[in-house]
Amino acid sequence: MLKSRSHVAVTAEDYRILAQRRLPRFLFDYVDGGAGNEESMADNEADFLRVRLRQRVMRDVSGVDTSTELCGRRVAMPLALAPLGLAGMMARRGEVQAARAATGAGVPFTVSTVGICPLEEVNAAVPDACWFQLYMLRDRGLVETLLARAAANGCDTLLFTVDLAVAGMRHRDTQNGMLGGAPLAKAMQLLLRPRWLFDVGIMGKPHHFGNLLEAVADPNDFDSFKRFVDDQFDPTVTWKDIEWLRGLWPGKLVIKGVMSAEDAQAAADAGADGVVVSNHGGRQLDGVASCVSKLPEVVAAVGDRLEVLMDGGVRCGTDVVKAVALGADGVLMGRPWAWALAGRGERGLAQYLSVVQHEIAVTMALMGVNRIDELNTDLLESD
Ligand SMILES: Cc1cc2nc3c(=O)[nH]c(=O)nc-3n(C[C@H](O)[C@H](O)[C@H](O)COP(=O)(O)O)c2cc1C
Repeated sequence: MLKSRSHVAVTAEDYRILAQRRLPRFLFDYVDGGAGNEESMADNEADFLRVRLRQRVMRDVSGVDTSTELCGRRVAMPLALAPLGLAGMMARRGEVQAARAATGAGVPFTVSTVGICPLEEVNAAVPDACWFQLYMLRDRGLVETLLARAAANGCDTLLFTVDLAVAGMRHRDTQNGMLGGAPLAKAMQLLLRPRWLFDVGIMGKPHHFGNLLEAVADPNDFDSFKRFVDDQFDPTVTWKDIEWLRGLWPGKLVIKGVMSAEDAQAAADAGADGVVVSNHGGRQLDGVASCVSKLPEVVAAVGDRLEVLMDGGVRCGTDVVKAVALGADGVLMGRPWAWALAGRGERGLAQYLSVVQHEIAVTMALMGVNRIDELNTDLLESD
């Protein structure tokens, strides 16, 4: 853990501390917090500790290779950056910086529907097109427009998020006035972070939801954007809508937010190419099981039909190896990339991703494994 300002940031927790020092409190809590009592959020991390690796020796591990394939793309390690709304508030034009760091590290970056930088701005900054994330919006015409924009910009993988029929209750956001109100408290928090205020708050403008510009009456009114987004979550969505979506989207379709064998099978039946076992980082249904504990159930149900990714609580290279050994094709990483970006910008995120990749390589070597596809449950201790 970072003990003083002269220590070098290495771990996700180091960057979390840096982010806390840099961001106004309402923004730090927006990233750091979860739904309800934050039980599921805590379990996501804690349950990784219960998975134990087997150490194997004397196996010639001179050729360790962390690369693999995710959604048809060669990647340097089995990891992609998860979609994070408002990531452009973590650093100046934050999604662009993060996409550059991800590209440098050889992993996909996912543009969120509710990102700050529009997908055109992000894709123009990197050679490989980003993945795109979308929710089902009430305005199906807008869904079609966004899909067409993503395809025209070269996005080949769509993460379609299905665990947001209604917005989860995130108490920290209410307490901080993140959902509107408390202008004085927010102004005070901003004044306490002058560096962020100048670098991001002033120089990082515009702070629109860049993908939704045309849909909102007054793009300069942040609260009207928020109201629009909240009104657009559609509680009527069913698997029939995914079949409709399948007909529209030519690329890989990955359903994000599946936490049971039944839903994973339904996703396969609706024509998806993959699923992400995800509880939205513990930000939606508080009390639901951790993602790593549900991963084996989903792998057993659809692992032979679909690509299976997982997210929630992945904080280091060892967690990535554990998820892959449990049957995941790869993981998404959420909060840690926002912390690294907020704490030290593009360079910090690049450094953090290189530590994660190195940790994957070292972990594989000490388990006696050279290739990602050699990882399986035989390399885990059974309960
Ligand atoms: C600040 C924040 C914003 C998020 N925004 C989105 C989003 O716009 N779309 C989405 O599908 N998931 C969103 N998520 C969920 C992440 O994509 C991912 O599922 C989750 O962060 C994984 O858990 P982790 O943070 O423990 O790695 C968000 C998560 C956080 C922390």
